[in-house]
Amino acid sequence: MPEEPKATDNKPVVTKLEAGKYAWCACGRSSQHPLCDGSHSGTGLTPVVFELEDSKTVALCACKKTNGAPFCDGSHSS
Ligand code: FES
Repeated sequence: MPEEPKATDNKPVVTKLEAGKYAWCACGRSSQHPLCDGSHSGTGLTPVVFELEDSKTVALCACKKTNGAPFCDGSHSS
């Protein structure tokens, strides 16, 4: 059974990312949050890999309740 993800905030992390591949931290334990640093090891949780074709500003989920990982879907307000 995987451990529970830890919320790191009750609002998304809004950040500009360059085009490329990223691994979003799904466990909430990364010191590089919102990106994975490998701290999920042993939790049964795994990062969500996503790719951006172009550089853009994104809202990455920090409450860990989104149904659209890695992006915020507004679930932090409910
Ligand atoms: S450190 Fe959280 S998913 Fe990898």
